[in-house]
Amino acid sequence: MIEVEKVRYIYPNGVEALRGVSLDIREGELIAIMGENGSGKTTLIKHLNGLLKPVEGRVLIDGVDTRKSSVAELSKKVGIVFQSPDSMFFSESVWDEVYFSLKILGYQSGEAESKVEWALKYMDLWKYRDRSPFTLSGGEKKRLSIAIVLAWQPKYIVIDEPTVGQDAPNRKRLELLINKLRKDGVTVILSSHDVEFIVDLRPRVILLSRGQIIADGPAESILTDEDKLEKSSLLLPQIPLLMKRLAGIGVNPGCLTVDEAIREISSKFKSQKIW
Ligand SMILES: Nc1ncnc2c1ncn2[C@@H]1O[C@H](COP(=O)(O)OP(=O)(O)OP(=O)(O)O)[C@@H](O)[C@H]1O
Ligand SMILES: [Mg+2]
Repeated sequence: MIEVEKVRYIYPNGVEALRGVSLDIREGELIAIMGENGSGKTTLIKHLNGLLKPVEGRVLIDGVDTRKSSVAELSKKVGIVFQSPDSMFFSESVWDEVYFSLKILGYQSGEAESKVEWALKYMDLWKYRDRSPFTLSGGEKKRLSIAIVLAWQPKYIVIDEPTVGQDAPNRKRLELLINKLRKDGVTVILSSHDVEFIVDLRPRVILLSRGQIIADGPAESILTDEDKLEKSSLLLPQIPLLMKRLAGIGVNPGCLTVDEAIREISSKFKSQKIW
């Protein structure tokens, strides 16, 4: 379990990026931290493996205070995939990139080699194993940055802005990956302002605004609440927006997906013998 208790964080330039954030993340949960640019998502994420330490309050990872443990030690449990993959790469080949990050975490060569193969195949990057990471496309780089973290199989995986710069097939691939990780019991924490991507995953949604949590609840209640979303400068996803507009004909506005909306609308019409 991750426990974030009344965390306040102030950058050296005086910007107060987190203003008393409290949050419990239980094992196996899928969480989406959402909010406008500058609301504090990345700052919050950096507290989860000790890259940043709270100025006030504390963060506990399975009971361990992040101030009393090293980033390397915490990273074995909490793997973070940051937004710009380029800044993560330093090796000559895709294979080396994954391998060396495992070595840094202390894995023996044999075990590291089999983990590299597993992670690259999992992310469909095995065919690129001899390529320089810097020659990959933006989408492939993103997949490699996820493969690097996936390779050491952390209990908690955090992905900062997973969909930025991703085309439709890669978005679908990311959605399948996240659902697969969830099925495998991995706790997944995403930061995003991509409501259309998040809505299909039905996570627990945490809304941040100006360094504070303004809402915390299931996607069904948060991503259908226009007022709450507006406070975080987010728009209603298309399906909840459609259902809201159709509320006048008596359909349930709580639908999140196309399939749910079709079911709800057709049952309404059938009951009125229109369809
Ligand atoms: N290294 C830094 N030094 C000073 N201020 C910073 C630093 N990083 C972030 N900030 C400030 O802290 C606040 C929160 O930034 P943060 O990056 O956590 O937001 P975010 O929600 O991740 O935004 P985005 O959606 O743009 O990624 C912003 O006001 C930002 O300008
Ligand atoms: Mg950010």
